[in-house]
Amino acid sequence: MKHTMQTVHVHGAAPYDIHIGPGLVGDGGALAAHARGRHALVVSDSHVAPLYAQALEDALLAARSDLKLARFVLPAGEESKTLAHFDGAIEALAALGATRDACVFALGGGVVGDLAGFAAACWMRGVDVVQVPTTLLSMVDSSVGGKTAVDIPQGKNLVGAFHPPRAVFADTATLATLPPREIRAGLAEVIKYGALGDPLFFEWLEAERQPLLDGDAGALATAIARSCEAKASIVARDPLEKGERALLNLGHTFGHAIETEQGYGGVGNDNLNHGEAVAVGMVLAATLSARLGMSPAEDTARLVALLEAYGLPTRVPAGLSPEALLGRMRLDKKNIAGRLRLVLWRGIGQAEVVPDVDEAQVLPVLAGMG
Ligand code: NAD
Ligand code: GLY
Repeated sequence: MKHTMQTVHVHGAAPYDIHIGPGLVGDGGALAAHARGRHALVVSDSHVAPLYAQALEDALLAARSDLKLARFVLPAGEESKTLAHFDGAIEALAALGATRDACVFALGGGVVGDLAGFAAACWMRGVDVVQVPTTLLSMVDSSVGGKTAVDIPQGKNLVGAFHPPRAVFADTATLATLPPREIRAGLAEVIKYGALGDPLFFEWLEAERQPLLDGDAGALATAIARSCEAKASIVARDPLEKGERALLNLGHTFGHAIETEQGYGGVGNDNLNHGEAVAVGMVLAATLSARLGMSPAEDTARLVALLEAYGLPTRVPAGLSPEALLGRMRLDKKNIAGRLRLVLWRGIGQAEVVPDVDEAQVLPVLAGMG
């Protein structure tokens, strides 16, 4: 059983470590080592704060009794990843009197991590952020690599900045309280790493479905570490997405269009969440690749089978118009000179960026007539 701590190092101009293991939220010494000054803001959401914020704050204060701590809590859900709540985080930093050596601790899933990271990037032109991810999705993806953002009604993550964390502490014990649907959403991003560049990892995921879905700590720790290693090596080579980092967006142009068009997934609605939308998006990317003659249809079928085995959706939700989805895709950050630039694949483990994709080929795929 892999219950021990693992560390993945992210190389580059602003290097940092990703610590993975149980109990890290209570490791005040390790966490507080990244608070350079006297001010720290804990940003969390309304589900996570009641579970873990006090433990984090107690641990920080036990290690550093001189810290001036404040807490800012968002309502849980993607609907909170807004400029209005970003403003709330900035107000909290101002009320704290945070100076340029302040540290923001982002305790929660990707919504908290992205918004808190963006607030840290902007406050006084940039203070430190330590990511403390508590969803599987944020452990394997959003806490690593420094992309921070909020959504606007026109599209996902359209306002943001690159702002790498000082450190990432993925406390795997927090996954015990994560709802099964959110575990599955995180597994969609884990599957993405196999699909985009690692056929052996894809096979491992085919074999390890049951332990992963059962929440087996060893299997989850292996999946998290392998995903973080894959992401760390790509972002170290291409931190600002000038090239290969775009591959990490396999499924995302389609997925973001679905998320935006349906209205962002929220607490108490049935909209697809981010991981689910990425699952559908990967299938659409694979379907389009086969349609364009880039990849074998059998690989699309294998991807669909794996996602379905993990209980993930593989079709565009009913009621979304293909034309409207295409309209959303035109506002994707990867597009250049008004042309659709998509991450497609040659088959399992071989994603590539395809510039200037013909919209007439995309529409039938969005309509389910791939
Ligand atoms: P999320 O932050 O909304 O968390 C999902 C749900 O789980 C929320 O209701 C949350 O309150 C709850 N939760 C979190 N931790 C919990 C715990 N331990 N126990 C119980 N409940 C818990 O969603 P997410 O899936 O973590 O993140 C999705 C977001 O991440 C999207 O906005 C997406 O755009 C972003 N993202 C960013 C990057 C990046 O590189 N920055 C990469 C991938 C995704
Ligand atoms: N999730 C895509 C990226 O970090 O680049």
